[in-house]
Amino acid sequence: MRTTCTLLHIVLVVVLKLSSLGLAETTTLPGKPSIPYVATRTDTVRDMLWIANVGKDDIVYDLGSGDGRIAIAAVRDFGARRAVGIEIDPKRIEESRKNTQKAGIKDRVEFIQGDLFTTDFSQANVVTLFLGHQPNIKLRSKMLAVLKPGTRILSHQFGMGEWKSDKTMTVRTFYLGMWGQMWNLFKENPRVPDYTGNELTPHEGDKIFMWIVPAPIAGIWRGKIETEDGPQELQLTLHQRLSEVGGTFQLSGNPKLAGRVNVDLWGNHIRFWCQPNNVPYGQSELRFDGQVLENTMRGTMVVKEEGRHQEHEWKAQRGNVGFTGTWEWPCASGPRKVKLRIERNDNKLIATYLDQNQTLPVTDFYDFGGGFYFTLLIGRTEHGIRITDDTGWLIGQAVFDQGSLTGMMEFYPNGDAPNRRGDGKTPQVIIVDWKPRLVKP
Ligand SMILES: C[S@@+](CC[C@H](N)C(=O)[O-])C[C@H]1O[C@@H](n2cnc3c(N)ncnc32)[C@H](O)[C@@H]1O
Repeated sequence: MRTTCTLLHIVLVVVLKLSSLGLAETTTLPGKPSIPYVATRTDTVRDMLWIANVGKDDIVYDLGSGDGRIAIAAVRDFGARRAVGIEIDPKRIEESRKNTQKAGIKDRVEFIQGDLFTTDFSQANVVTLFLGHQPNIKLRSKMLAVLKPGTRILSHQFGMGEWKSDKTMTVRTFYLGMWGQMWNLFKENPRVPDYTGNELTPHEGDKIFMWIVPAPIAGIWRGKIETEDGPQELQLTLHQRLSEVGGTFQLSGNPKLAGRVNVDLWGNHIRFWCQPNNVPYGQSELRFDGQVLENTMRGTMVVKEEGRHQEHEWKAQRGNVGFTGTWEWPCASGPRKVKLRIERNDNKLIATYLDQNQTLPVTDFYDFGGGFYFTLLIGRTEHGIRITDDTGWLIGQAVFDQGSLTGMMEFYPNGDAPNRRGDGKTPQVIIVDWKPRLVKP
């Protein structure tokens, strides 16, 4: 008996360990689930929809929708305009449709049998996920490419690598019994609320993460601001890494101001404040607030200078850029040149990394308008990581200005991931300024 219990405990611990890495994702075969079915606890479903403030204007998509509980709750309990579940398993689709019928909301909830990685979900303004770290990372470039800025993405339990969430919540796990679902001591008691669903991390609680899809704002922005002292020219250079944006500014006038900008981006809403580094600290304070619409930003600017407080309208625009071509630079791990080829296909940028006879597609690539960001694991094989001198994560980011790219390249050797799982550990890294040379138009 003791041996059986110990064995069972070991099996359970292994399953839980696998689960904490992702829901033990397997390779996708056509028509087969690549992630196993585990339901989100009903209280966590409500918390996910609550944290995203789901309401009557929202179209909610649950990718990998299981028994349909998230899509149904979005419409039934939060009054969402419409909800769609995408699910590969026909049995779950049938179950979801029955559950929708029971809830009496079948006009506003739809279930599509299909692969979440290839089915269109661009209509969503709320996306919910309970998948795993790897599937989340696999999905994030598509999500940022097709979803409108301001769309809320919710993930139950799993992060998105180095993309920091805008909101995080931990929901304590309600004690159900020795091994949760399997031996739920309370399940026969009708007065105990229904908390059925997963118990991936008993005693720790479920985690909910939320991200706001950022507007793509990398690049060079130029504008004119009418002030009491006459018109002033503004130039901003913005570098974007997912939701993180930083850069520099220049403002004409007397004196001319220049320095760093601190940017806070929330969907389409931008706020930034400029720290001039060519006048004494605190002499001039410039604060901008505005909205981004494709290649135009506009809003109000507040200037505080020597006791004066002025407010002006501002507007800045970004020109069209074309960074397609093949870009070459010296490799971080040896005396040779490596290349990044960027092509446009169907209005979408496609990048490929070229190192001698190696050709690697850069699937985690982000077109942020006047610049881009990408991550690439070099040395990945179908079944793991092949350790060679150049195995590691390459992370690049650049803006395009007058025919050149300038940015930064980071290399994390030995497959050491840059906060890939959000575990807070600082990996070894080589960071260099990146100014690749265009070798083919
Ligand atoms: C962990 S469950 C989450 C279910 C539901 N979203 C919830 O939170 O209760 C993951 C679901 O994704 C489905 N799934 C796995 N791979 C899929 C794929 N490639 N396309 C669509 N659905 C998939 C599984 O069948 C399963 O129902």
